[in-house]
Amino acid sequence: MRVAVAGGTGLVGSRVVERLRARGDEVVVLARSTGVDIVAGTGLSEALAGVEVVVDTTSIVARSSQEYVDFFGAVARHLQTAAAAAGVHRIVTLSIVGIDGLGGGAFAHYDGKNAQERETEAGTVPTAILRATQFHDFAGQLIDWVAKGPLMPCPKQPVQTVDVGAVADELVALADEAAGGGLTSDRVRRDIAGPERRLLADLVRAVAKARGRRLVVVPVWLPGEGARKVRHGVLQAPPDAKIVGGTFEEWLAREYAEPLRRATTS
Ligand SMILES: NC(=O)c1ccc[n+]([C@@H]2O[C@H](COP(=O)([O-])OP(=O)(O)OC[C@H]3O[C@@H](n4cnc5c(N)ncnc54)[C@H](OP(=O)(O)O)[C@@H]3O)[C@@H](O)[C@H]2O)c1
Repeated sequence: MRVAVAGGTGLVGSRVVERLRARGDEVVVLARSTGVDIVAGTGLSEALAGVEVVVDTTSIVARSSQEYVDFFGAVARHLQTAAAAAGVHRIVTLSIVGIDGLGGGAFAHYDGKNAQERETEAGTVPTAILRATQFHDFAGQLIDWVAKGPLMPCPKQPVQTVDVGAVADELVALADEAAGGGLTSDRVRRDIAGPERRLLADLVRAVAKARGRRLVVVPVWLPGEGARKVRHGVLQAPPDAKIVGGTFEEWLAREYAEPLRRATTS
């Protein structure tokens, strides 16, 4: 099949592209670095010619809720419009478990993702939203964003992180179902999660240790109603979520064993 992967150069998108290409599918990567800016609309309609399914794994790093809403809203709207014109069968969008239960204004990125869900489902092309819990990579991303010195404040919250490879597998499976006509509703939503509930601070400590970084991780209570809901598990897998992929420790061993082994033998 011919599939367009929006954000196909990113953490998740590149794995989706790898999997599709490995089995011989025709893949179009939609990213600014490949000449397609979905927000500006540059190159989008040409890129979608003959495409059956669009998988949306785009993201940015922004400072405010408004920037995230503008970005994700524009991506969803522009993909819908261009996909409708190109005769695309379905748009598969990666989102995040539980974000619609948070209310607006609590977390900037999640405000954007809620806008993306709303805008894609407001379009005429059928949709499938795959909501995943935080990735195993999340703790390391948090260190990169937050830890500027030896002390790192970390939200006191449970997480049920998932392997990004398993997320890519599920996106590919959903694209297959969409192309094969196996999805009976025009508005499909599914939740996936990793196998274990852990405390975010423990994962951050484990990644810091694996990186050989001395970091004192200080769990903090973030203020506000949204943060309270997160502490009470709104971002955890709901009962009907599909549990996929390996554990955080398995991922950590895989992710850091090779670089560490290379560093100690060179
Ligand atoms: N991190 C988590 O724990 C987690 C959990 C569940 C779901 N998610 C969701 O997963 C999605 C993907 O995250 P990720 O970490 O894989 O993202 P990422 O690595 O930051 O990749 C983002 C992709 O979007 C592309 N992009 C950005 N602006 C664009 C534009 N204007 N036009 C076209 N392409 C554009 C980037 O390519 P260029 O820069 O070349 O344009 C890149 O390919 C996000 O929407 C996130 O909300 C994340």
